[in-house]
Amino acid sequence: MIVTNTQTGTNVSEIAEHLYRINTPVSGEAIPGGFSFNQYLIVDDEPLLYHTGMRKLFPLVREAVAHILPVERLRYLAFSHVEADECGALNQWLAAAPQALPVCSRIAAMTSIEDMADRAPRAMSDGERLALGRHVVEWFDTPHLPHGWECGLMMEQETRTLLCGDLFTQPGADNPALTESDILEPSEAMRSGMDYFAHARNTRAMLERLAATEPQTLACMHGSAWRGNGAELLRALADRLDKQ
Ligand SMILES: [Fe+2]
Ligand SMILES: [Fe+2]
Repeated sequence: MIVTNTQTGTNVSEIAEHLYRINTPVSGEAIPGGFSFNQYLIVDDEPLLYHTGMRKLFPLVREAVAHILPVERLRYLAFSHVEADECGALNQWLAAAPQALPVCSRIAAMTSIEDMADRAPRAMSDGERLALGRHVVEWFDTPHLPHGWECGLMMEQETRTLLCGDLFTQPGADNPALTESDILEPSEAMRSGMDYFAHARNTRAMLERLAATEPQTLACMHGSAWRGNGAELLRALADRLDKQ
């Protein structure tokens, strides 16, 4: 792990081959014990950053990306849904990386990004793939899972990493970069206090579809990334959501 900003503790770790977790811990009254925001950078011929971070985090995330590659090399700025932590700094990134395009769902493009972004997005259809070089990401529409009509997630085929966004959100400001310990109970404890799931009718079917990709790493947006039997963990989450 490399700390890229000693004041904030922003840090970078490689959690799968050429796939980096950028992590910024935060403290505050809203979440006792603190919280963290992660972005994931896939380094390849056409580098992709998954989640931009909030506008206020931009200088820190930019500094962290610059430790790995020149920021102007970025080609894709992908995000799950339209919220500040997912895409708040999108226009700052578009200015910093002149070759980069927003990557989002067709619904996100239609409802928000074609208007909000300073460059037109590459709108992804369900099941569409984007080749980055050795890495290939596949887009999955997941409307309302965990929240947002425009929500979608991406699977990186080469490393079998599911960029799972807000699924398995864990509290805490000092989680390890990558863990094989249980993350379901911490994320369920978090959800019992502030339930950020939309509880859509087809939640189980969507989680089952993600499980069928058999991810080996789950790149969580808040807390640790996780390594293990991703299919089992996604099905365990579906079981818990069924009980609500
Ligand atoms: Fe979110
Ligand atoms: Fe988030």
